Amino acid sequence: MTETVKTILLLGSGGREHALAWKMAQSPAVTKIWALPGSDGIATVEKTECIAGNATDPAFVVKTAQQLKPDLIFIGPETPLAAGVVDALEAAGLSVMGPRKAAAQLESSKIFSKEFMTEFGIPTAPFKVADTYDEAITLCEKWDIEGKGIVIKADGLAAGKGVVVTHDRAEALKTLHDFMVNPACSVKTERILLEEKITGKEVSAFALCDGKTFLPLGYACDYKRVNDNDQGPNTGGMGGYAPKGWPSDKARQFIQEHVFRPVMAGMQELKTPFKGILFAGLMIEGDNVKVIEFNTRFGDPETQILLPLIAEDIVPLFAQAAAGKLGATPPSLRNSHALHVVLTSEGYPETLGTGMRLGEKMDIPAAPDNTLLFISGAKKKNDQWVNNGGRVIGVTALGATMDEARARAYATVEKIHFQGAHWRKDIGR
Ligand code: AMP
Ligand code: GLY
Repeated sequence: MTETVKTILLLGSGGREHALAWKMAQSPAVTKIWALPGSDGIATVEKTECIAGNATDPAFVVKTAQQLKPDLIFIGPETPLAAGVVDALEAAGLSVMGPRKAAAQLESSKIFSKEFMTEFGIPTAPFKVADTYDEAITLCEKWDIEGKGIVIKADGLAAGKGVVVTHDRAEALKTLHDFMVNPACSVKTERILLEEKITGKEVSAFALCDGKTFLPLGYACDYKRVNDNDQGPNTGGMGGYAPKGWPSDKARQFIQEHVFRPVMAGMQELKTPFKGILFAGLMIEGDNVKVIEFNTRFGDPETQILLPLIAEDIVPLFAQAAAGKLGATPPSLRNSHALHVVLTSEGYPETLGTGMRLGEKMDIPAAPDNTLLFISGAKKKNDQWVNNGGRVIGVTALGATMDEARARAYATVEKIHFQGAHWRKDIGR
């Protein structure tokens, strides 16, 4: 038996961490949650206190954890993982939910991830790696772009900006130049991935992992483009829903056996066991499943969709995973539909030369039954909420049907007011 968790240190500050704190606070045994750095939204959660500081600085996180002595540390975002925060905390003898730096490469290096998938037989789009700009140009010039399409991916973490699904050779060559040569481009990489384009419907699958075994946590579909009908630039995620009846049972079985299981076995074989949340971005066409990418943490806003559907206390499961002692029973899910809509600031996603409209006063209504509000880019200024980020606040609603969940979510969205507020009207349609 893993010891009961009474106190938790949660790293992160977004809507995802607001949802995590909300779910953790419902655990009867939990008496205190510290959020580093947290946010004014997270501070509204019962039992929760925010601690100022840099969550990606391993020495600072260790010092903070040694002072607070939490029973469990949970890492929300990817940047502390890539910075080796888990390695430092575990070296200090602390109990952590999240992968060490070497295992977090499944997300922090797209090339590591693709080579891993090839080595362990995980289905993914065919690809080539270039180590120099000249090599990338040569590969691109020889590529059958009309037949296979070409997707260009920068190797490292790029906050969602390091992938371009190109339309023709000219765009592919321009992307290579931007990512590898152009100093004005925010994405910079020395190594690049060229990948065949695959088609189908996208879904994200989540699993809780303890280094050896995993438990499936559910599925979510998200909306990446900023405007309705998938128009406009990519964002961190504008909303989403938990699909029902799709992927099929057969596809779900395939994902467990041919995606999650070989990741666990392969990472053990490489002596970098994977502990934490594994998030597989998948493309499904008929029964054909391919992995687009792995993330080594919960998604934002997928977490705001998945956690409200989990019927039971999740904290004991997190503790078991951290201790390498996960049981065989996945958490039970509510028999509801869940849908989430994100409201953003005007100008989001910010691109070079355009500012976002920030500092606007916000009216945030009380959440009605079966509705939850998760705050990301907003803060309190003299007791008044103002927006201070791209994605500002998200509304999750549960319903007996998708129509009910959607109507419920949008009814609350309409009651949130701030100048320049933007949201997609077509989530779940
Ligand atoms: P990623 O950052 O790897 O999730 O990629 C961002 C988005 O690009 C994905 O959600 C897909 O919509 C798209 N994408 C990535 N790789 C491919 C591919 N090989 N074929 C088609 N679309 C892709
Ligand atoms: N919503 C996508 C992500 O968290 O990466």
